[in-house]
Amino acid sequence: MTDVASKGSAADDDRPVLTNRQGHPVYDNQNQRTVGARGPATLENYQFLEKISHFDRERIPERVVHARGAVAFGYFEAYGGWGDEPIAPYTRAKLFQEKGKRTDVAVRFSTVIGGRDSSECARDPRGFAVKFYTEDGNWDLVGNNLAVFFIRDAIKFPDVIHALKPDPVTHRQEPNRIFDFMSQTPESMHMLVNLFSPRGIPADYRHMQGFGVNTYEWLNGEGESILVKYHWMPKAGVRSMTEADAAAVQATELGHATRDLYEAIERGEHPEWELLVQVMTEEEHPELDFDPLDDTKVWPENEFPAKPVGRMVLDRNVGDFFAENEQIAFGTGVLVDGLDFSDDKMLVGRTFSYSDTQRYRVGSNYLQLPVNQPKDGVEVSTNQRDGQMAYYNDTAGTNPHVNYEPSITGGLREARYPTHDEQGPVIQGRLTRKRIPRTNDYAQAGQRYLLMQRWERDDLVHNLVTLLAQCDRPVRERMVWHLLLTEDDLGLRVGEGLGIGPGAVAHLEPLASQDLTDEDRKRLENLG
Ligand code: HEM
Repeated sequence: MTDVASKGSAADDDRPVLTNRQGHPVYDNQNQRTVGARGPATLENYQFLEKISHFDRERIPERVVHARGAVAFGYFEAYGGWGDEPIAPYTRAKLFQEKGKRTDVAVRFSTVIGGRDSSECARDPRGFAVKFYTEDGNWDLVGNNLAVFFIRDAIKFPDVIHALKPDPVTHRQEPNRIFDFMSQTPESMHMLVNLFSPRGIPADYRHMQGFGVNTYEWLNGEGESILVKYHWMPKAGVRSMTEADAAAVQATELGHATRDLYEAIERGEHPEWELLVQVMTEEEHPELDFDPLDDTKVWPENEFPAKPVGRMVLDRNVGDFFAENEQIAFGTGVLVDGLDFSDDKMLVGRTFSYSDTQRYRVGSNYLQLPVNQPKDGVEVSTNQRDGQMAYYNDTAGTNPHVNYEPSITGGLREARYPTHDEQGPVIQGRLTRKRIPRTNDYAQAGQRYLLMQRWERDDLVHNLVTLLAQCDRPVRERMVWHLLLTEDDLGLRVGEGLGIGPGAVAHLEPLASQDLTDEDRKRLENLG
């Protein structure tokens, strides 16, 4: 002991003393207790055992998707409406009502497929998840940077992710597995055209758009609902990387986007995004050639203009990566009054999945952690009790004996509905397993291609050819077939790169899992 104590200097005396979690001072943090200096260790060595066994449990399971991410904090400031038009006729959500009203936010940007320490230069969608700590409790808007998704039914999510994740045997991300799945999933074409273009590798998180992707609902004070889609536009503009740019960054660093965000905020350059919404009346809209509840589609902005409703500024970094990044938990079910779900089949599936995985990944009391708790004076009052790591009882102030409801002896009561509990359209139908009508898998993908600048198209074609060249012939042929149906020029160019002309794929029949439009059929006839 004496030799350790003698190492301390006068300056050290001002520092707090190291203790264990029981509050016991630690006198020697360098040597375990042994029988003599060279003898065996003893098992009653509580301090050592505590230190090692806590270390052994430092990692929690990483997120099954979006494992790598960066978190920052800031605020959302509402515009109160768009132009002279107030927002109240559309939504009664309090955070949007008043011009200049600020709500604290936490944002987590992420990649999807790689593990916790994987490269941020990956060609991968980026997650864009925002937690609004509103006065009515938390609202999470959990989106991505590409506006659409690979699939439109949540039941396919484990499959699309398995195809994109490393091969279960070689543990390598295999183009053949990815395109095998995608070639049998025509609804993925719109996402693929985006993902394999430069947009698939954002330059960093500050120069990236965000989209809610799924269709939500807004409710006004009369209980009337409207469909809504959300868009985040970066004030700094959008920047992307080609494969070559990404390779150069990745050669020196795997976490450039996390560093860029952290350092910008430390320098006082606070990134900002504007939030815009598109709204659409809640009907089937037979005049559209797509279903408004289909997350493989965007809503054309000329028909459904994007209206700015507020701005978001990120001005604070995390104080601790684990507490505020690993343990932060977002979910699509986390909505406040005035905001609601639609029947989008992905959204409903997502809403189950997030809190389910967080109970497993973080623990059943994950909502008691500071980063996940509501703020802004919101009192959490539940009759949920116990479970691993229950940190406190969240009905402080009421009768502690009454952890049930209803009761005449105290405890919590139900809230009153702001208007009434019946909302949304009346729906009738048979229980069934069916695709939505109007799948129209190619038109928007083709339009997206035509909207690209020349260099973006070239990059898309180059990326597809490079990866498809590594795939089996039937997978290549089917992909060329889909790309020809998407847009002639795209299909011809990728086909040319692979040595597969339209004639070579003209014999392919449509997949059993797809519905073709008249336009698609015309294109098919022209293939030969
Ligand atoms: C994270 C499931 C579709 C955006 C996650 C996680 C799961 C999941 C289990 C990990 C959550 C955690 O461990 O905390 C699903 C399912 C989907 C789906 C079942 C489809 C049915 C989507 C779509 C988007 C999206 C369409 C984009 C609009 C995100 C984001 C995260 C995430 C941004 C990361 C959240 C964070 O930063 O903590 N998803 N997801 N997901 N998902 Fe999804």
